[in-house]
Amino acid sequence: MKIQILPSLLAADFGNLRGDILKAAASGADALHLDIMDAHFVPNLSFGPDIVKLSRAVAPDFFRHVHLMMTRPDLYLEPFSNAGAQTIQVHIEADCNIHTELSRIRAMGIRAAVVLNPETPAERIFPYLKECDEVLVMTVRPGYGGQKFIEECLPKITAIRNRAPSLDIMVDGGINYETSLLAAKAGANMFVAGSFLFKQEDMKLAVANMRSACEAVFKN
Ligand code: DX5
Ligand code: ZN
Repeated sequence: MKIQILPSLLAADFGNLRGDILKAAASGADALHLDIMDAHFVPNLSFGPDIVKLSRAVAPDFFRHVHLMMTRPDLYLEPFSNAGAQTIQVHIEADCNIHTELSRIRAMGIRAAVVLNPETPAERIFPYLKECDEVLVMTVRPGYGGQKFIEECLPKITAIRNRAPSLDIMVDGGINYETSLLAAKAGANMFVAGSFLFKQEDMKLAVANMRSACEAVFKN
């Protein structure tokens, strides 16, 4: 399976978003991760479809991956689709019908993904595995960048990998060289990193290092 590295725009310099989008696009990373927070599902507000649109305008060929930390993601699928989202992730803990929303996302020609919070058991996503293109296992409580990786989430990755050997499994939260290796060993093949990548002097080198280290340990 392909190892993918995704810088999270949440950790960018918001005074220089254009420059940081270009930097991420030129880093060799596979996609841009865009965190949407509604101040209800999580205790924080981030940004909306206009920033997704901006990333499309600035770097049209850089894949746009949208993580909806929203109580009602179902009300916002069209705005994010119109803004250029190419993967949309919805939390299983959201207040909507997950079967319905995954099929709506796919009908828009967008990759559909389900997200699990740290305290949500892996089994909760088993009924949706055939209806999604990717599963995101959160490795921090969503809402803020810069938090510490929760190691107790690792067995969930392995449980999902055993059940779905060829599914894309992503981790998000507290990812650095060390924790990306733990997640890759557990079976994850996609890695979101915000503060770790944006604080690097050479993002390109960090992406290449993370990719080759994860490729070396990833077990499918
Ligand atoms: C957390 C977000 C993450 C965040 C990760 O709620 O979903 O994508 O940007 O940030 P770091 O990598 O700094 O933990
Ligand atoms: Zn995220």
